[in-house]
Amino acid sequence: MEFKRNIIITGGAGFIGSHVVRLFVNKYPDYRIINLDKLTYAGNLANLVDIENSPNYVFVKADICDYEKMTELMNTYNVDGIIHLAAESHVDRSIKDPFTFARTNVMGTLSLLQAAKVYWESLPERYEGKRFYHISTDEVYGALSLTNPAGDENGRGPYGPDFFFETTKYNPHSPYSASKAGSDHFVRAFHDTYGMPTIVTNCSNNYGPYQFPEKLIPLFINNIRHRKPLPVYGKGENVRDWLYVVDHARAIDLIFHEGKVAETYNIGGFNEWKNIDIIHVIIKTVDRLLGNPEGHSLDLITYVTDRMGHDLRYAIDSNKLKNELGWEPSLQFEEGIEKTVRWYLDNQEWMDNITSGEYEKYYESMYQGR
Ligand code: NAD
Ligand code: TYD
Repeated sequence: MEFKRNIIITGGAGFIGSHVVRLFVNKYPDYRIINLDKLTYAGNLANLVDIENSPNYVFVKADICDYEKMTELMNTYNVDGIIHLAAESHVDRSIKDPFTFARTNVMGTLSLLQAAKVYWESLPERYEGKRFYHISTDEVYGALSLTNPAGDENGRGPYGPDFFFETTKYNPHSPYSASKAGSDHFVRAFHDTYGMPTIVTNCSNNYGPYQFPEKLIPLFINNIRHRKPLPVYGKGENVRDWLYVVDHARAIDLIFHEGKVAETYNIGGFNEWKNIDIIHVIIKTVDRLLGNPEGHSLDLITYVTDRMGHDLRYAIDSNKLKNELGWEPSLQFEEGIEKTVRWYLDNQEWMDNITSGEYEKYYESMYQGR
C-alpha cells in the first residue's frame, strides 16, 4: 500500500510517545507510523497492544544515537516527517548519571537531525513537504519564583506573576534540562544553517495513563495502594503546571500539521499545583476509589531530603498556541486526575510487570540515604 505520509515517531514506546503513536495510527490510516524506540527501562510495548497489529503501524527497535541506522531508516521508509520524543526524561536519574542524558538527548538528537538532513537534501524536492518536530520541556527555561505562596482566593495558582513564554531566555538547572536545552539549540541551528523545516514545542508536566512509576503521580498512586511511604521532597512546596497527556498529544497533532516552521510553541494548561496539594488530591482520590475512609493514607506522607537543585516553580503561558492555532486543553484537572487514578487502579497488571524485577533495585537506590 502506498502511504500518504511516512512518519517516524521516536520514543513511541514511552509515556507521551505511546499516546502520540496511538492518536496518529488511529486518526490517520493513510499515514505509515514508524515507532522508533530503543526500549530502555522506560520503553514498554505493552503501552501499545491495542494498535500493534494496525496495518499502518511499524515498530523498529533502534537507538537514535546509531547514525548509520537512522540513515538506513530514512531511506527504507522514505520518511517525510519526524516527531522526536525519545529521550532520557527523569530529573533524579540525570542527577545520578548525567552522561547518559548528554548521549541520548544531545548526541541522539544530533544523529537524527543529521540523518534527516542528508536524506532530505538527497531528494529532488529537498525539504519541501518535510518536517522535523522536536518535543521539549518547559524545564529548559529554568525556574520561576514563588512570590505568591498562598495562591488565589481558592488557595490555588498562579503562585507568582511571572510565566514561561516562548521568548523566555533558556536557563536550565538540572542535567536533564541542560541536555534538553542542548538538543533544542541543535534543532534550531539545523533550521538556521541548512533551512531544515523544524518546530520545537516546550510542554509542562504531563500526567495520565502509561507513565513510568518513577514520576510523582504514578509512583504515589502505586505506593498508596501498597501502603508504602510517599517520599515528599523538601517541604512539598515546589509548584508544577500539570497537563493531561492526551491533551499534549492533541497539541502535537495540531502543531505537526498546522504549526509554522521555525516557530516555538509553549504547551500547558494554566494548571499550577504545589506538590503537597496535588499529593493530598491523589491520596483522597485513591482512598475513595479503594473504599478506604477519608484520610486513611495521609500517614504515608514522608518528608525526605530535597532533590539537589530542585526547581521551585514552573508555569507555562500557552496563549500563543491558543491564539494562533486554537488549541486548548479538553480536560479539567479534576476529571483528568480521576481518570488517571482509575486507570492505574484498573491496570494493576501493567504496573506489576514494571515494578517487579529491576525496578525494585532502582527504587531502593534512589531513596538510600534520604
Ligand atoms: P519516557 O521516559 O516515558 O519515554 C522515553 C522513551 O524514549 C522510551 O520509550 C525510551 O525507550 C525511548 N528512548 C530513550 N532513549 C532512547 C534512545 N537512545 N533511542 C531510542 N529511543 C530511546 O519519556 P516521556 O515522559 O514520554 O517524555 C517524552 C518526551 O517528552 C521527552 O523528550 C521529554 O523530554 C518530553 N517531555 C516530557 C514531559 C513529561 O512530563 N513527561 C513534559 C514535557 C516534555
Ligand atoms: P517528577 O514527576 O519527577 O517531574 P519533574 O521533576 O520533571 O517536575 O516530579 C514532580 C515534582 O514532584 C517535583 O517537584 C519533584 C517532586 N517529587 C517528590 O516530591 N517526590 C517524588 O518521589 C518524586 C518522584 C517527585
